[in-house]
Amino acid sequence: MTQTAHTGTMQHASDLIASELPGAGQNPDKMQGHWVLARVGKRVLRPGGIELTRQMLHALAISHRDRVVEFAPGLGVTAGMVLEKHPQAYWGVEREPSAARQLQQRFGAPGVRIVQASADQSGLPSACASMVYSEALLSMQTPQQKNRIVAEACRLLGAGGRYGIHELCLLPNNMPDHLRQEIQTEMSREIHVGVQPLCRDEWIRLFNQNGLKVTWSSEAPMRLLEPRRLLQDEGLLHSLGIAFRVATRPELGSRIRSMRRLFARYSKHLGAISLVGERG
Ligand SMILES: C[S@@+](CC[C@H](N)C(=O)[O-])C[C@H]1O[C@@H](n2cnc3c(N)ncnc32)[C@H](O)[C@@H]1O
Repeated sequence: MTQTAHTGTMQHASDLIASELPGAGQNPDKMQGHWVLARVGKRVLRPGGIELTRQMLHALAISHRDRVVEFAPGLGVTAGMVLEKHPQAYWGVEREPSAARQLQQRFGAPGVRIVQASADQSGLPSACASMVYSEALLSMQTPQQKNRIVAEACRLLGAGGRYGIHELCLLPNNMPDHLRQEIQTEMSREIHVGVQPLCRDEWIRLFNQNGLKVTWSSEAPMRLLEPRRLLQDEGLLHSLGIAFRVATRPELGSRIRSMRRLFARYSKHLGAISLVGERG
C-alpha cells in the first residue's frame, strides 16, 4: 500500500449503534465485563486509561511512513488517535465480529483494513508492518496464547519494527502464587473471561523470549472505574451519559458496581503497564 491511510467519514465513538455492540441479545449476567462497560457507553477499555495510551503512542512515535497493525482495537478509540497521524497503512485485527463490523463502517477507507480474525493468526503477510500494538488483550489470554500472539506480532514486523502493549500488571513484582491464583480466579469469575495478568518482569520476559528488546516502559494505577479516571477517559458529557445509563439499567449497573468493588479490593495488587519492544 503506498498511499496514506485516510480516516474516511469519521464517526464519533459515541455514535456506535447499541443494538450492534458486542453482547447484543446476551444475558447481562453472563456478558464479558468489557462489553458490559461498552453497553453503558464506555469506550476506553484498557487498565491505564487514555493517558497511558498517549504515552505509549508517543513512545511508538508513529509517522506517515509507518505501516501499523493493531490487535484487538475493540471500539476503535486508539485506532482513531493513530489514524489522525496518517500512517501509510493501518490494519485492525479484531476477533469479535460485531466490533470488527463497526470498525470497518467507521474507519474503512483506502489504506485502512479491518480483519476479523484472532490476533495469533491474523492472516496478514510476514514483515508487512513497521509497528504493532495492542491494549487489554494479552492479560485475557493463557500463557500459550500470550506467546502465540507476541510471536505473531514479531512475524508481522520487519527487523527494527516495534511492538507496543498496554496491559494489567500484578503488584508487587514477586507476587506470591496464592495471591496470584486468588486474583485470577476472582477476576475471571467477575468479568466472565479468563484473566491472567503478569508481573512487570514477566511481561518483559515474554517480550525477550520472542526476540523483542524492551526500549521503553511506563506504569499507571489501575483505576478503570474510578470517577476521576472516567472523566479523563470519556470527558464530562459522555461520563454523565454513562452515569445515567448505569443508574437506569439495573442489570448492567449491578455488574459494573461489583466489578468496581473487585478492582477496589485488589487495588494494591493491580496496576497497568505499557511496554515498547524492538525486534532485532
Ligand atoms: C478489554 S477489550 C479492549 C479493547 C481495546 N483494545 C481497548 O483497550 O479499549 C478486549 C478486546 O480484545 C478482543 N480480543 C480478545 N481476544 C482476541 C484475539 N485472540 N484476537 C483479536 N482480538 C481479541 C476483544 O474482542 C475485545 O475487543
